[in-house]
Amino acid sequence: MAVSFVLFLVSVLILGGRVDSEPVQDKQALLAFIRQTPHANRLQWNESVSACDWMGVQCDGNRSFVFTLRLPGVGLVGPIPPNTLGQLGQLRVLSLRSNRLSGQIPADFSNMTLLRSLYLQDNKFTGEFPDSVTRLTRLNRLDLSSNNFSGSIPFAVNNLTHLTRLFLANNKFSGNLPSINPGDLVDFNVSNNNLNGLIPDTLAKFPASAFTGNLDLCGGPLPPCNPFFPSPAPSPILPSPPAIPQKKSKKLSTAAVIAIAVASAIVAFLLLLCLILCLRRQKRLQPKPEKPPVMPRTVAAEAGTSSSKDDIIGGSAEAERNRLVFFEGGIYSFDLEDLLRASAEVLGKGSVGTSYKAVLEEGTTVVVKRLKDVVVSKKEFEMQMEVLGKIKHENVVPLRAYYYSKDEKLLVYDFMRDGSLSALLHGSRGSGRTPLDWDNRMRIALSAARGLAHLHIAGKVIHGNIKSSNILLKPEHDACISDFGLNPLFGNTMPPSRVAGYRAPEVLETRKVTFKSDVYSFGVLLLELLTGKAPNQASLGEEGIDLPRWVQSVVREEWTAEVFDVELMGYNNIEEEMVQLLQIGMSCVSTVPDQRPNMAEVVRMIEEINRGDTDDGLRQSSDDPSKGSDGHTPPTGSRTPPRSVTP
Ligand SMILES: *[C@@H]1O[C@H](CO)[C@@H](O)[C@H](O)[C@H]1NC(C)=O
Ligand SMILES: *[C@@H]1O[C@H](CO)[C@@H](O)[C@H](O)[C@H]1NC(C)=O
Ligand SMILES: *[C@@H]1O[C@H](CO)[C@@H](O)[C@H](O)[C@H]1NC(C)=O
Ligand SMILES: *[C@@H]1O[C@H](CO)[C@@H](O)[C@H](O)[C@H]1NC(C)=O
Ligand SMILES: *[C@@H]1O[C@H](CO)[C@@H](O)[C@H](O)[C@H]1NC(C)=O
Ligand SMILES: *[C@@H]1O[C@H](CO)[C@@H](O)[C@H](O)[C@H]1NC(C)=O
Repeated sequence: MAVSFVLFLVSVLILGGRVDSEPVQDKQALLAFIRQTPHANRLQWNESVSACDWMGVQCDGNRSFVFTLRLPGVGLVGPIPPNTLGQLGQLRVLSLRSNRLSGQIPADFSNMTLLRSLYLQDNKFTGEFPDSVTRLTRLNRLDLSSNNFSGSIPFAVNNLTHLTRLFLANNKFSGNLPSINPGDLVDFNVSNNNLNGLIPDTLAKFPASAFTGNLDLCGGPLPPCNPFFPSPAPSPILPSPPAIPQKKSKKLSTAAVIAIAVASAIVAFLLLLCLILCLRRQKRLQPKPEKPPVMPRTVAAEAGTSSSKDDIIGGSAEAERNRLVFFEGGIYSFDLEDLLRASAEVLGKGSVGTSYKAVLEEGTTVVVKRLKDVVVSKKEFEMQMEVLGKIKHENVVPLRAYYYSKDEKLLVYDFMRDGSLSALLHGSRGSGRTPLDWDNRMRIALSAARGLAHLHIAGKVIHGNIKSSNILLKPEHDACISDFGLNPLFGNTMPPSRVAGYRAPEVLETRKVTFKSDVYSFGVLLLELLTGKAPNQASLGEEGIDLPRWVQSVVREEWTAEVFDVELMGYNNIEEEMVQLLQIGMSCVSTVPDQRPNMAEVVRMIEEINRGDTDDGLRQSSDDPSKGSDGHTPPTGSRTPPRSVTP
């Protein structure tokens, strides 16, 4: 019995080899694919046997066409060549997941009209949502997660009427979510993209975790959309330096710009109307509003504004309680209503909330930070604001006002139009940008150190979130530190993603930031200035190693020169200074908090680097001799860039 079965099997196999049961065309397509696509050695397709017996290939019962092709994790590299896989017109399942395939999905994928399942996750595909895929109307499962797809998710996804599972997480899709409703969708995930705006009703049934990690999605399972900044237009995460024209906005057609403008105007008008009506109603209900408690040392919004606005806002106790509170010595005179009318643009999304650039009607530009997940009471919030509002220093971005209501907590800061150190250091590297020269790096290091020292000493405030995107620049490359002192608002539940890469080791355990953990973060910042490497980027050679340990390992191997940013090579006579700053940075990132210097010492040490250098082109960070570094007034731009200097 068993023997005859084996004989039968053998004869089938032999016959299978001999008989012309070969999907000839499909075999050609597969061979064309594998010849043009680099892959791991273990994927060996022997041309002299039937394609149906190849690894990863399954044919139909008559061996007349390829039915499924599954090549997960076989080391395929590069783009899928056109006129290869797309020719498998009878294919039902295609899995190419977990390879290193890149480029765009070829247009001829649309020929695989019978495809039911398409698994392309975990590759490096780029480009927009593939048009060809929206034509595969029999698709049941589509997984494009963990690639580098960008652009908007097209409404044409609705053409896939049989879709039950759609996975788009971990890409760079942007714009609004279309109202996707292909019948029986049971599984859906768009987390970790750059989407914004309202989650359509058709998708609201999916859990919040299917939407998290986007730029600014709201509604549905997520918190409701903010009435002040209704779904702002997509925008770059970091403010780009002003000199570089924004390509994005150029691409918008005039019609689109007009449409957006008209739509925002209408929305703003409706919101304003609604607010006025609500307040009027409250006024009628409360003819004798009780006077709200006067907040010490704050100036109410109406101080410098016209009385007509007071008529609307100032009347009711509710509105009075929920108004913008300005700090003394501020330069602004606008109120909530003005902010409501402002045009807003997303500047960036951080762990504590989203920052907007708001341009008020009269032309003033401010940064509005919308805090999320504030846990403290209103009183505690106000007390912390009082502390932060008092901090005034030329190297600290001033907090100008705040707003607190049950649903909304807003902070108003000055807008710094020169952008952040992070953008300057890491933005558009290599594409003809002007590198940040050593003088300016030193200037930034010293001015940021002074700002932080002021915060620690005069303000008694722990910054809690030192990183290069919180170091903003003034003209002349003086630095200003922003985003300080917010940790107390979030209790002990500091989001774990906060300051990754800059976080002192002890903070992981204690979950508490301290003056010394600020010093650690500042040390990482110094290393970042010196190496040009972002502490949270994975490009430090070994995966999972952080910047301080990477620097330590390179220095230990006595390759000190190799740690420095290549953009700094070619400047003369700076090696000594770079090594000194490196030593300061490394003392700041000591694992043991007590071994780190305090910020006053850090400032002094950085100032001493400057003093030590007396012959050529001596520099200091401040033009004002009263600011600490004594009396050298250097010629500006003293250190000449490599081009104009004899090699
Ligand atoms: C391919 O298959 C033929 C026939 O089965 C066999 O003789 C040959 O050795 C195989 N080649 C490789 C490289 O495995
Ligand atoms: C196999 O081929 C026969 C005759 O050509 C056809 O009747 C049958 O439907 C085919 N079976 C499959 C599974 O395609
Ligand atoms: C693929 O589709 C195009 C047009 O859609 C057609 O011209 C071409 O012949 C198709 N190729 C195959 C192999 O079906
Ligand atoms: C989607 O379907 C509509 C109508 O059914 C059609 O006009 C459109 O071309 C389709 N889009 C794609 C990308 O197939
Ligand atoms: C993702 O695509 C963008 C262009 O769209 C490219 O600049 C970037 O390097 C890609 N990232 C990765 C990790 O491939
Ligand atoms: C969506 O994907 C993210 C990231 O892969 C994951 O953390 C989350 O649990 C997923 N949510 C759902 C509902 O599948």
